[in-house]
Amino acid sequence: MTDSPSTSPEESAPQSMADRGDTRSRRPDSDAFRAFMASGWGERVTAPVERSGAAEHLPARAVAAGEPFTGQRLVVPAGTFKVRNNDCDYRFRAHSAFAHLTGLGGEREPDAVLVLEPREAGGHEAVLYFKPRASRTSKEFYADSRYGEFWVGARPSLEEVSAQTGLRCAHIDTLRDALAKDAGQVDLRIVRGVDSNVESMVEEVRSQAGLPVGEDARHEDERFEERLSEIRLRKDPFERAELRRAVEATKLGFDDILKALPRAVGHRRGERVIEGAFGAVAREEGNGLGYDTIAASGNHANTLHWIDNDGPVNEGDLVLVDAGVEVDSLYTADITRTLPVNGTFSEVQARVYQAVLDACEAALARANEPGCRFQDVHDAAMRVIAARLREWSLLPVTVEESLSPAGQQHRRWMPHGTCHHLGLDVHDCAKARREMYQEALLEPGMAFTIEPGLYFRADDELIPAEYRGIGVRIEDDVIVNEDGSVTRISEDIPRTIAEVEAWIAAAQGC
Ligand code: GLY
Ligand code: MN
Ligand code: MN
Repeated sequence: MTDSPSTSPEESAPQSMADRGDTRSRRPDSDAFRAFMASGWGERVTAPVERSGAAEHLPARAVAAGEPFTGQRLVVPAGTFKVRNNDCDYRFRAHSAFAHLTGLGGEREPDAVLVLEPREAGGHEAVLYFKPRASRTSKEFYADSRYGEFWVGARPSLEEVSAQTGLRCAHIDTLRDALAKDAGQVDLRIVRGVDSNVESMVEEVRSQAGLPVGEDARHEDERFEERLSEIRLRKDPFERAELRRAVEATKLGFDDILKALPRAVGHRRGERVIEGAFGAVAREEGNGLGYDTIAASGNHANTLHWIDNDGPVNEGDLVLVDAGVEVDSLYTADITRTLPVNGTFSEVQARVYQAVLDACEAALARANEPGCRFQDVHDAAMRVIAARLREWSLLPVTVEESLSPAGQQHRRWMPHGTCHHLGLDVHDCAKARREMYQEALLEPGMAFTIEPGLYFRADDELIPAEYRGIGVRIEDDVIVNEDGSVTRISEDIPRTIAEVEAWIAAAQGC
């Protein structure tokens, strides 16, 4: 739609680049219009506020986050919009540390900031600063396309978010003063790289108070970020339940992929048909995708992060689908299934698939043994992979030589890790120290993936032709129980050869 050109004297002056965003429309701005827009609205109808399931866990999370930082003010921004182009933003998704400490998901908290305020008696109080909905007499109400009620719906009030989360809430406009309170006596820590405005505010306060700034404060800020990662290594009961919900929704997505397989085969970009089928379920059942879906048919499965998904899906191919629904609380599943497009594994496909499945079973069995370290789970899977490659005469050295640090030849065909923590981020707890992650003993509440694979590229001249172009990964999500046993929370998503074939047959009404 194009408006007719304006002819008023002011508007005929050269228009600054900053104003060009408004070129396509003319906004009424008379006093009469503003008064008219502020009048005549019926009583506001708002749904009753529900207490978030995370709320009862937030005090413990705040204590854990603040424990090494007594007396310091700890700043956790949600992040802001990221411009996609011109005045169109990407859909907002809060930083996971913010989501963890507030229990908030969704799209209503851009520019919000959680502050863990030091208490005199020790510990911290969590205070949430955000931009609440403006009154209907404000210009924001009808004219602000990023925050205004006319444009993005009614944002919540301070009272509503307080009722939802149990947190003390304050207007974002009071943040600067709150950060500067007792300047000089209270040091500040911030999660860097999330919101440059808030970061500048913190730097300004530090600078005025004579506190370390910039690079001099980096190490301590990074210690705070590390802490926020490490307190998520063990999931509380709410988080475990959300991960199970994410896996349940992901199963629905895979069910729909199976139904869409015949259409995928008939489409020149069948991989997109699979991606679309899963994406629809992810939006219907959750917030969306936890990460970009990998729908990789045939040799594309050997490109580990194949997200172009623009290839055909051919009869006789295996199609590797790595996908996860992120539920509204932002916890995500991370599941891979490798499916025979025509419903039946060929002999060589089954051989490769069974090897990967055996590696999954060995990894799960190791995880269930007492005294298992995170990295032991990978080692157990790799022993099976190396053994099968040797049996098939693909490995040019012995299994032991390959498993030794100086060898590792088997990794040519399985180049990624077998496990990663899972939670709000698909690769959760990424800033944790190695000794808390790879080298740590498995502990109750930990949630992680088990995802071995075998990848035989079409151009690999070291393997017989029958293997070339076959890529298989099987990925499950597990949680460590209070008694140390490990539950595969994705056990309802079929994965043995017989189960997968039966699953496809049932989905397609065979
Ligand atoms: N989907 C990414 C991964 O499996 O780690
Ligand atoms: Mn994974
Ligand atoms: Mn995955």
